Amino acid sequence: MTKIFKHPLIDIKLTKMRDKNSSHTTFKKNLNEIGSLMVYEILRDYKGKEKKVVTPTGSTAIGLAFDKSIMIVPILRAGLGMVAGIESLIPQARIGHIGVYRDEKTFQIHEYFYKLPDVEKDSDVVVVDPMLATGASAIDSINRLKKDGFSNIKFVCLVAAPEGVAALEKAHPDVDLYLAALDEKLNENKYIIPGLGDAGDRIFGTK
Ligand code: URA
Repeated sequence: MTKIFKHPLIDIKLTKMRDKNSSHTTFKKNLNEIGSLMVYEILRDYKGKEKKVVTPTGSTAIGLAFDKSIMIVPILRAGLGMVAGIESLIPQARIGHIGVYRDEKTFQIHEYFYKLPDVEKDSDVVVVDPMLATGASAIDSINRLKKDGFSNIKFVCLVAAPEGVAALEKAHPDVDLYLAALDEKLNENKYIIPGLGDAGDRIFGTK
């Protein structure tokens, strides 16, 4: 299932991020805020488990709690820019990290880092990366998580190219994909057009 979020707040924040004149502070702030808004929507139909609490009036209220661990897995390094926003809504979420890089000449993906907290294999895993370009790093990262035994995996990104969406849907049809925008295409350097440039550089103010 692929879902594109249409919400004016997301569009306004994404427009600020796309603007080449926005500072890295503005970029990072809006990225985190969109991450929060998206997770809020993703959890709309969350079932969880019933939880009873005793209130200060001495009576019992029947409420809701998370029933499994939630693990957020940013793909380094741009995915890091979405973690704080998601954690602001789900502070108990555990954080894993996957580091992959794209060879500038061959466009091949190489993994250089993989470290996860000790969570149950049936945890809800949310892989985050602001950009879904060719889909190669998302596909590789999800392959790695599945190899490790995880199966409840969602992928959350801000901006995707149609090529990346098609590749990810084909490789992992069981993984729900959430986007804030579906852009036009990839250019010859595999950047998303119109896109927002190199998300890692824009988050961390590097070149
Ligand atoms: N990664 C980015 O940061 N930007 C793109 O446009 C494509 C991949």
